[in-house]
Amino acid sequence: MNRSLWETYDNNTKNEVLSAMVKSKWIMGLMALTLAVSLSACGNKKEETNNGTTTGNNETTGNTSGGTVDAAAAETVYKANCISCHAVDLAGGIGPNLQKVGGKLSVADITKRIDEGGGGMPAFKGTLSDTDIANLAGWLGSMK
Ligand code: HEC
Repeated sequence: MNRSLWETYDNNTKNEVLSAMVKSKWIMGLMALTLAVSLSACGNKKEETNNGTTTGNNETTGNTSGGTVDAAAAETVYKANCISCHAVDLAGGIGPNLQKVGGKLSVADITKRIDEGGGGMPAFKGTLSDTDIANLAGWLGSMK
């Protein structure tokens, strides 16, 4: 029946029907393609986010393992050896203010200063253990 109906169409009508079918297929295809592209774009975005998170975690781990300062022990050593010149609250006196020394000097610089002294400050290498000096320098290095 359908075929006989089709056969009653003249060529123009057949062309119109065919091109309509082709067009609608094309639109469906385009929609499917758009959907597929946007889905895969979402997938990529997720991967990127995951990568970023992983990097962030690594950085956090690095920071945590780098900051092994025993603040209480550092304060004890500081109070016993440094307050006469740098004050209990690090505000300074004979020696300079150390409240923001970590923003000015690296932990290595501070270690060297404590080890060697100079400019009116005594050297503490030998008086204090290397562990105490390293801990003290790490603690002062966090003063920013
Ligand atoms: C006898 C006094 C005296 C004592 C005790 C002393 N310091 Fe100092 N300190 C100074 C002086 C003076 C300076 C400045 C030296 C200079 O200008 O070169 C200084 C500088 C420093 C600096 C460099 C600060 C900067 O801004 O450049 C650090 C860090 C420091 N002292 C830490 C300590 C620590 C930690 C102790 C205790 C273990 C200590 N000092 C004990 C007198 C002292």
